Amino acid sequence: MPVLQAEYLKSVSEQIFLRLGASEDESRVVSEHLVNSNLFGVDSHGVIRIMEYVKGIRESTIRLRVQPKTLKELGCTVMISGEFGFGQITGMRAMRIAIEKAKEFGAGIVGVRNCNHLGRIGEYPMIAAQSDMIGAAIAKGPAIVAPYGGKSRMLGANPISFAIPANKEKPILVDFSTCTAAEGKLRVRRAKGEKIPAGWIIDKDGRSSTDPSDFYKGGSILPFGEHKGYALSVMIEALGGLLTGAGSLTKIVGVNGALMLALNIESFSTISEFKSEVDELIRELRASPRAKENDEILVPGEVESREYDKRIRQGIPIDDPTWLEIAGIAADLKIDLKDPGAKAQGVRSVPAS
Ligand SMILES: NC(=O)c1ccc[n+]([C@@H]2O[C@H](COP(=O)([O-])OP(=O)(O)OC[C@H]3O[C@@H](n4cnc5c(N)ncnc54)[C@H](O)[C@@H]3O)[C@@H](O)[C@H]2O)c1
Repeated sequence: MPVLQAEYLKSVSEQIFLRLGASEDESRVVSEHLVNSNLFGVDSHGVIRIMEYVKGIRESTIRLRVQPKTLKELGCTVMISGEFGFGQITGMRAMRIAIEKAKEFGAGIVGVRNCNHLGRIGEYPMIAAQSDMIGAAIAKGPAIVAPYGGKSRMLGANPISFAIPANKEKPILVDFSTCTAAEGKLRVRRAKGEKIPAGWIIDKDGRSSTDPSDFYKGGSILPFGEHKGYALSVMIEALGGLLTGAGSLTKIVGVNGALMLALNIESFSTISEFKSEVDELIRELRASPRAKENDEILVPGEVESREYDKRIRQGIPIDDPTWLEIAGIAADLKIDLKDPGAKAQGVRSVPAS
């Protein structure tokens, strides 16, 4: 299994998108997003997605060189269309608009439709946290999850994320799907030939399975926390799907519909006071009595930030099947993997549509 440096992976990814006709900005933003996901240990939303995005570009479900468009704007709320460009470009724009609105109104809420895959949702609320605001995002996705008590794919993986800035501590980052595991995790386990824990999926006949390939043969993922995860997911169908016009259940236009929120802390408290209190909250949790002596109490976001520090130092492990596929695409596009940034001779880039 190759262990690769983040900068190298970014460069390979950027070259792939550039040579397929994406703009420099699109190639950089999308590649940074994917490699950041790997750095944070969220491999399900890292460079493993390159193949799916390349297919999207080739089949024109991902349109290149388009900009998100404002459809509606009223006070602190804005509705935008991603115009079926890269989801990451749309997601970044949505959160930046929400932050600008929050500066003016105390809160900013942006709805998103006509949107491709947004990737790791936690990336967007973190932009708000870096601007000393509270960020949140929910996203409706394609139907791959069975309702509580059901056996067919009706709900999206429907992730939810919050980021809360702290002072000396790292921001609290909550970022998970409302099902037992994001679909990308099944993809990673299948690529590694590994089993999955019982309770993650059911096969097409509704039977529990530990083989990730059963999901790809018509099975479904289960909601997390039984009726509770299911209930949360239904709410995301309504807000991220229906309210934004992206569609609900099995009817969705594009890959994700989303609602993004930025809250201006200064409308409620002072930034320094709030952030110090968040530090305190984190430290109190960490110092609270442990169930087992050797267990550690972590706050949400800590697993990822530790992995980030480790992978920045040691590199990012990429499983062999994923690297083989990426290397195959690179070879097709005449990208020299020893020097991905080098200009290839005689390669025409695909004109942007
Ligand atoms: N774009 C999409 O449609 C889509 C769909 C589904 C998921 N996703 C993304 O997939 C990723 C993975 O989702 P998932 O459901 O597998 O997440 P997960 O089950 O791995 O949960 C991750 C969350 O749990 C926290 N956490 C983990 N261990 C912890 C501990 N011991 N103590 C405290 N907190 C802890 C993490 O910090 C993080 O906030 C997310 O980044 C999500 O945004 C995207």
